[in-house]
Formats: sequence, structure tokens, C-alpha cells
Amino acid sequence: MKQNIKIMIAGGCGFIGSSLANFFLHKYPNSKIYILDNLMRLGSEINLKRLHNDRLIFLKGDLSNKTSFNNLPSCDVFIDAAADPSVLSGIDSSVLKLINNNFITTINAIEWCIKTKCKFLFLSTSRVYPIKILDEISYTESPTRFEWMKKQNIKGLSDEGINESFTMNGYRSLYGSSKYSSELFIHEYGKYKNLEYIINRCSMIAGPWQMGKIDQGVVTHWLASHIFKKELRYIGYSGNGKQVRDILHINDLCNLIDLQISNWSKVDSQIFNIGGGRRNSLSLMELTKLVNQITDIHLPISKEENKRNGDIRIFITNSKKINNILGWAPTLNTKAIVNDTFRWIIDNKKELESILK
Ligand SMILES: NC(=O)c1ccc[n+]([C@@H]2O[C@H](COP(=O)([O-])OP(=O)(O)OC[C@H]3O[C@@H](n4cnc5c(N)ncnc54)[C@H](O)[C@@H]3O)[C@@H](O)[C@H]2O)c1
Repeated sequence: MKQNIKIMIAGGCGFIGSSLANFFLHKYPNSKIYILDNLMRLGSEINLKRLHNDRLIFLKGDLSNKTSFNNLPSCDVFIDAAADPSVLSGIDSSVLKLINNNFITTINAIEWCIKTKCKFLFLSTSRVYPIKILDEISYTESPTRFEWMKKQNIKGLSDEGINESFTMNGYRSLYGSSKYSSELFIHEYGKYKNLEYIINRCSMIAGPWQMGKIDQGVVTHWLASHIFKKELRYIGYSGNGKQVRDILHINDLCNLIDLQISNWSKVDSQIFNIGGGRRNSLSLMELTKLVNQITDIHLPISKEENKRNGDIRIFITNSKKINNILGWAPTLNTKAIVNDTFRWIIDNKKELESILK
């Protein structure tokens, strides 16, 4: 990576965007970081405050409005981490708002990248994979989690999880569709407008500075509910908390994106599944156990048998493709993720209480 790199981060006051800004500011002492955000996510102001630095410039604006891109300085890389990232977005709220925040923002950003010859890195989601097909995969039930049955003949599925060749046919939630629409256009801009791009389909990212809420950011939400004594429920799949996800520490994601930018030609115009993988997978019930061990707080958790719109029984990411190309693999386990997030909430309890409570 060139030392005086200039990076523009859309959604730079969000969890991932602010963590990337902080990472690059410290790793590259001659870098310049521009962050763009409309501060619509509760808690983004707190993330902005922690980023105070001479080499950081904050530009406030709604990126679904093209004029927000007027007069921006040219940069080497544009990272798109601006979105409304909840899988429930658009279901009980405005779809147009979702499209504006998750799709139009991306199109405006790509147009700007084409005009200024800037590379484009997109934070997509594992939610682009179709819900019904994922939920039809045969499974078994252990005392603490659901497990995919082994050796099923399904393209893109192996014991290591879901890879990039899994089918894309089927509904995927309005959120998933907004992100997939962006992906499709990024691909076309690559072909017809020479956009240099990388698409990272991330599973659950977690760690300090994630302003978790009931519909997004489960590790923070689980910990905060224990710390601030809020009601918690296991929702769906009989209400036993056996649904499974893999989680990735935000630091591992920052290291990966640094590697990708530094080795752009090896990863240009490609899509990657990015996640914690089988070793970093856990069910809600297992998350509760980890939270109990780390916090020494026990909270009664009620059951809600019916699943929420968009829920998935199991998702585990297979990140072999990026591992083969760049040698990247997660380094921080579920315990480290929960522990680091716990410490952050405790250290900032007063400030976070009104946001996470
Ligand atoms: N956190 C995860 O687990 C996860 C997993 C998969 C994919 N992603 C993707 O990563 C990206 C970042 O997610 P995050 O967890 O940091 O979310 P976040 O909500 O913490 O951050 C998003 C930021 O974008 C800003 N924003 C939203 N709409 C905007 C607009 N129209 N104009 C300007 N700013 C706007 C928000 O104010 C917020 O600060 C998203 O695109 C999301 O889809 C996140």
C-alpha cells in the first residue's frame, strides 16, 4: 500500500466505516481519510467523535443525493460502507428509503469513481443468497444448535459453508435485494465503464463500536441486553435459540481490506464471501453461554416460536476463495469477539447507555 494513500469512506461514521478509518489512520501515518455520512444511524456521532485526527476529514451529506459528490477531492480508493444494514429494512418501513440508502448511494458513488478514476470496494452481504433455498438445506439438531447434514449434493455448499457459487435464484429480503442490485450494477460498470472494483459479501461482522440493535448487530445487542438488563427473546425456529451464524471480528475485516487494497490486481473485479467460517460459528444459545461466562451476568430469555421475516436457520461462510488468493483467514475467535465488545461497552457505559438500552 502506498504510504500517502487517500481513501474515501462512505458510511464512515458507521461501525465498519469508522473502524476502517481508524485502522488506516493508524497504520498509514501519511494517509488521508475522507468520511462521508449523513449520521442517520443512531450512535454514528459517537463513532465520529472517536475519529478525531488531523488527517481525517468529515463531510456530512446524504449520498443518495448526487450533489453530495460535488467537489470531492480525488482519491485512490472509495470504500462503500453506507447503507441501512438491517434485514428487516423495507418490510415495515419505506422501500424507497431503503433503495435510496442502499442502492442509489452506491450508483452515485460508482459514477463518481468512474469520473475521477477511483477504485471501488463494496461492502455487500451474505444476505444476497436466497432465503428459501438456504432454509431448505437438510439439517440435524444437536442439544445447542442446528447443523447442516454432511455430504449434501448442493452446489456451493460444503462442510466449510456457503461459497460464491451457491445459487442466486430466489427471494432474499428487500435488504438483500437492495445490496444484490448494487452488485449487479457494479459488475456492469466494470464491464462497460471500466470500473475497478472488489465486492465483499460479508456475513456477521462484530466487535467494538457496533451500535447493535434488535434487528442488526446481535453480539452487541446480546451483551447490551445483559449489561443494561433489557428483555431478550429467542425468536423463531421454536424459540430455542439454535439458529447458527458465523461471526468475524472487525479487526480481521480491516486487515483483509488492507490486504485487498495492497494486492488489488490479484482481486480486481471479483466477488468474495467473507466471514468467520465454521470455527467462528455459534448459535444464539451458545452466544448466551459465552456472554454468561464473560460477563458473569445471567438474564432470563423468553421464547417466541414464530420466525421473523427474513430469518435463516443456518448460515456459515466459506471464505476459501480469498484465502487461496491472499492467504487471509480470521485470527480472532468468538471468545475474543465477545470479550472485546464487552470491554468496549463497559469502558463507555455512560455514553452508550442511551443508544444501546
Ligand atoms: N455489520 C455487519 O455485520 C455487516 C454484514 C454484512 C454487510 N454489511 C454491510 O457493510 C456496510 C456497513 O455496515 P455497518 O454495520 O457499518 O452499518 P452502520 O449502520 O453501522 O453504518 C452505515 C453508515 O452509513 C450511513 N448512511 C446510511 N445511509 C446513508 C446515506 N444515504 N448517506 C450517507 N450516509 C448514510 C449511516 O449513518 C451509518 O453511519 C453496509 O453496507 C452493510 O450492508 C455489514
